[in-house]
Amino acid sequence: MKTKTGRNDPCPCGSGKKYKKCCMGKAAAESQSSPEALLKQYNIRLKTPEQIEGIRRCGELVMRTFEVVRDLIRPGMLTEEINRAVHEFTLANGARPAPLNYHGFPKSVCISPNEVICHGIPGDHALEDGDIVNVDITSILDGYYADCNQTFFVGTPSPDARKIVDVTRECLRLGLEQAKPGNMVNDIAAAIQAYAEGRGCSVVREYMGHGVGLDFHEAPSIPHFRSRLGNVPLVPGMTFTVEPMINLGKRDVRVLDDGWTAVTRDGSLSAQFEQTIVITETGFESLTPFDL
Ligand code: MF3
Ligand code: CO
Ligand code: CO
Repeated sequence: MKTKTGRNDPCPCGSGKKYKKCCMGKAAAESQSSPEALLKQYNIRLKTPEQIEGIRRCGELVMRTFEVVRDLIRPGMLTEEINRAVHEFTLANGARPAPLNYHGFPKSVCISPNEVICHGIPGDHALEDGDIVNVDITSILDGYYADCNQTFFVGTPSPDARKIVDVTRECLRLGLEQAKPGNMVNDIAAAIQAYAEGRGCSVVREYMGHGVGLDFHEAPSIPHFRSRLGNVPLVPGMTFTVEPMINLGKRDVRVLDDGWTAVTRDGSLSAQFEQTIVITETGFESLTPFDL
């Protein structure tokens, strides 16, 4: 008995067309997006509905942590005081802060002011009127990870501060608009890059979004610029972050001697927004939602 439809056989869908002119392409696309194929080809772990619910619950805690943080953002506040508040609120809610001791990171949250792109280490630095500051929170609740960051104004923003924060928020919104089955990671990346560069800003290349949920950083990488890495299909059940880092000046990065703090080489302002999302049948759901 013949089990496989040949390319020139009539299509099993009954259209009367040859298989190769009809459903063959769709079958290939489907086999490339099966859980087994995604795992083998890209090391992507599709999540079950139960796992997605676990990540969603963790995301809810992360968003409640941001309410605590938002109330602390003001001139004179030390970044270490924000770190302590995040640490204590996370533990009080039965979770753990993922950054603490992650590859040796010494604190419970990343706090990145002004020209710091990401991975700023909280300490005795005092926030000042006119600063922008990114706070990046990742919690582990019942073994599930959710990762989210937002950039805040401290006091009254300068025109430059307003511009880089507005451009970066819009980059995340436009990137997420492309997050749906049938699209590729590169569709997200291209939307972000086109908008940022069109506004005269630049996209950081060294740090990317990432799969997330069962671990802090999973496959695939989610570049925010067109790249061979972005040649990955978006499939329902994929959970990952989109987290564009956009510089007001040039894109080049320098890492300080602490081994973590990434700053713009030209000293220009840098902003970032991040959400953890799941791809659904019709688009995406944010598991760490905030208005964009
Ligand atoms: N939260 C960051 C991200 O979005 C990763 C921080 S790693 C740390 O991927 F060690 F610096 F915490
Ligand atoms: Co992340
Ligand atoms: Co993050």
